[in-house]
Amino acid sequence: MSRRLRVVQWTTGKTGSAAVRGMVDHPVIDLVGCFAYSPDKVGRDIGELCGIDPVGIAATDDVEALLALEPDCVVYTAYRPNFDHLERILESGSNVVSTLYMLSGDGYGDEPTQRIREAALRGGTSLYTSGIYPGHAPMVALAASAMCRRIERISVLESLDIQEYANEQMFRAQGFDREADDPEVPKVVEASCGSFKNQVRVMARALGLRIDGVEFRAEVATADHDTDFGFMTLDKGRVAGIQGVVAGVAGGRSIVECRFVWKLGEDMTPNWPVTNGYVIEIEGDPGVRCKLEPMGEHFAGATTTAMPVVNAIPSVCAAPAGIVNQMELPFVRGAHQVR
Ligand SMILES: NC(=O)c1ccc[n+]([C@@H]2O[C@H](COP(=O)([O-])OP(=O)(O)OC[C@H]3O[C@@H](n4cnc5c(N)ncnc54)[C@H](OP(=O)(O)O)[C@@H]3O)[C@@H](O)[C@H]2O)c1
Repeated sequence: MSRRLRVVQWTTGKTGSAAVRGMVDHPVIDLVGCFAYSPDKVGRDIGELCGIDPVGIAATDDVEALLALEPDCVVYTAYRPNFDHLERILESGSNVVSTLYMLSGDGYGDEPTQRIREAALRGGTSLYTSGIYPGHAPMVALAASAMCRRIERISVLESLDIQEYANEQMFRAQGFDREADDPEVPKVVEASCGSFKNQVRVMARALGLRIDGVEFRAEVATADHDTDFGFMTLDKGRVAGIQGVVAGVAGGRSIVECRFVWKLGEDMTPNWPVTNGYVIEIEGDPGVRCKLEPMGEHFAGATTTAMPVVNAIPSVCAAPAGIVNQMELPFVRGAHQVR
């Protein structure tokens, strides 16, 4: 059995709540504190905030009080990064695992990336990012690639009706409910896919492939009528679905692809079919096709997003200092979860 690890949760939104549910009663993790971004969450029991029984720990917005708990690791699942907080956490001696996949690439620019790296080196700590997609689903594709003696194209597709995730802030940031002919839509959609550009580069490096560039294509579907989803409304004619691909290109060929089909409901034109899961396809010798199909509540409950980082905590705490990517850790698996 590994040594027990002290962990602080950073925010209790969709993914943070799933991480807390995955850490309470965990065989090697002791949840010792929690940061609240929302003022109305400060002082409240984090079990209550995450939809489970009270755990006897109150959320706080006092960063130094949390670091005084001497956590081995912070699970950082805020909606947007606060680089002052990240720098302080890493230099204080706590590792960070996060579902903000762009944090481990260059998506936020050189300056913040350099700040994080230097803070980690000062603190002797590591930052690791994952999630389900980007994150674990592409790792499964890479694991499948070990069966091939020639690979012409490797692709991962996320294909979901996303309405149960009920995250208005995120969906609007992706371009949903915009006028379909708004010239900003392609830019907004591409900006929201920045993490997939990092993912394509990680996959290409893992395959020993030098890519010439990363290309992006997307198209939208429009709502057939006005719909009230409860958490947001969507007007007829506005963006109700987005599908596209982020592709690593070499020699004029699209070789490493992160694809997506995201739909808010079914009433849209065109109405692309969804497979409700992750489809991995490798064209080559042999070709490979597999589907990751989490059963029961997964996407809405964010379990499959949170657990690839929670399950990585012991390896991240043991990793060399700096920003570690998915190829630099032992294969993350559900260790200690057989119960
Ligand atoms: N790789 C993947 O598979 C994957 C999948 C889904 C999401 N993600 C990423 O994971 C992160 C968390 O996603 P989520 O759906 O859990 O997010 P969320 O529920 O919308 O937000 C998480 C928390 O962030 C805090 N917050 C809200 N607005 C904020 C803002 N403007 N700036 C900073 N913090 C803010 C809130 O903290 P309080 O709890 O204190 O209110 C909120 O509960 C996002 O960056 C998302 O893109 C990754």
